[in-house]
Amino acid sequence: MADDILNMQAKSWSPESWRAKPIQQVPIYSDLAELQQTESQLATFPPLVFAGEARKLKESLAAVAAGHSFLLQGGDCAESFAEHTADNIRDFFRVFLQMAVVMTFAAASPVVKVGRVAGQFAKPRSSPTEKQNGVELPSYRGDIINDIEFSEKGRTPDPRRLMDAYRQSAATLNLLRAFATGGYANLENAHKWMLGFVKDSPQSHRYQEVADRITETLGFMKAIGLDAKSHPELRQTEFFTSHEALLLGYEQALTRIDSTTGDPYATSGHMLWIGDRTRQHDHAHVEYCRGVKNPIGLKCGPSLKPDDLLRLVDLLNPENEAGRLTLICRFGSDKIVDYLPALIRAVKKEGRTVVWSCDPMHGNTITSGSGGYKTRPFERIMSEIRTFFAVHQAEGTYAGGVHLEMTGKNVTECTGGARMIADSDLHDRYHTHCDPRLNAEQAIEVAFLVAELLKAERATLPAPQARAAE
Ligand code: PEP
Ligand code: CO
Repeated sequence: MADDILNMQAKSWSPESWRAKPIQQVPIYSDLAELQQTESQLATFPPLVFAGEARKLKESLAAVAAGHSFLLQGGDCAESFAEHTADNIRDFFRVFLQMAVVMTFAAASPVVKVGRVAGQFAKPRSSPTEKQNGVELPSYRGDIINDIEFSEKGRTPDPRRLMDAYRQSAATLNLLRAFATGGYANLENAHKWMLGFVKDSPQSHRYQEVADRITETLGFMKAIGLDAKSHPELRQTEFFTSHEALLLGYEQALTRIDSTTGDPYATSGHMLWIGDRTRQHDHAHVEYCRGVKNPIGLKCGPSLKPDDLLRLVDLLNPENEAGRLTLICRFGSDKIVDYLPALIRAVKKEGRTVVWSCDPMHGNTITSGSGGYKTRPFERIMSEIRTFFAVHQAEGTYAGGVHLEMTGKNVTECTGGARMIADSDLHDRYHTHCDPRLNAEQAIEVAFLVAELLKAERATLPAPQARAAE
């Protein structure tokens, strides 16, 4: 019976079937004809990513689910049109490479690299409107929808922004592909990835050591005939993109049928995720995501009950395909022990294969006492990651990834870290368009912590092969 219902639902999916469902977090456009025209035009544009790449990411995530590999996912909370520069993209990619190398080297674990980038433009908000000095306007919902500037004009959703987001994503992706495969990511450059301001930081010595060891290893490999010329994996890397599938008109317009398999794929990014506010099982966002074949992420917050999670797992991954579903847990450092074990047990009991990833950012947001800034204390972020690993260790499951909001820039948005950013420092370089991000140093500090935990995890868990066969 349940199977029949699932089959019927599966049959009736189409890229627009979400339109018949209730929907949360939807912007109100005044000119629907213009919106439709924009979406129709987008539907004729080339895909940003290919189905084959999304399948490759799924295979890589299947290896994470089996405990062979680790997922590093991160980037801006919200990308912005105003900050679309080559320097920003390079600095982000560089710090991401540094983090990945720290994890790969210190924990001897392959790292699957997935940016929150080249499409991360739409934001769910806690309130549809914002009040400033007695004036009430629509909330900022990300650059693909409206402008951060607090004015009537700025806050009015504008369909032309979909085009701008598409073009910015294409340009960003183009540069990232060039960085990933064109020589920049060559491991021989590990020393060159040191950022100026990181050089004199406490993290720089630790990173320097890793880079020295890599250089030494590469020297040895070269001596025995294995060099970057003959081994492309040493001079290039695989890098994937992801964003929250929030603005479904945009996602629908970029949905394509893969000519190889005949299956529908979202081509706006390799991986899409469903936010914590839009994961109702019978609503539009789950409906759209269940039908595309990309790897899908699902944000799991404190309000998610084990039964609801199982229903979502059934809908989103009915065939229990490894690598299809990543559960991105974001409870808060003080809540994770109360909520995570029950979800793990439910998933394990049903024999469902998922990647467990930790978002230590979204459950740890507070408002700073002095300036009223939204911030995240670094020690809470570190604490949630530690507890995430500890809970998995206790449950006999694999802590497979982290999901971070971070930037390559030297911002002051999260308090703490080796430089002990204080509440009173936040105003200095607080640039985010949405949530507070780790700066480059803090991101590398997190990478070192993850590397340590991962090393311990890989040493104590049963052999990955044994787990995969369980
Ligand atoms: C986000 O990832 O920026 C976000 C809004 O997260 P969540 O859905 O977990 O609140
Ligand atoms: Co965020």
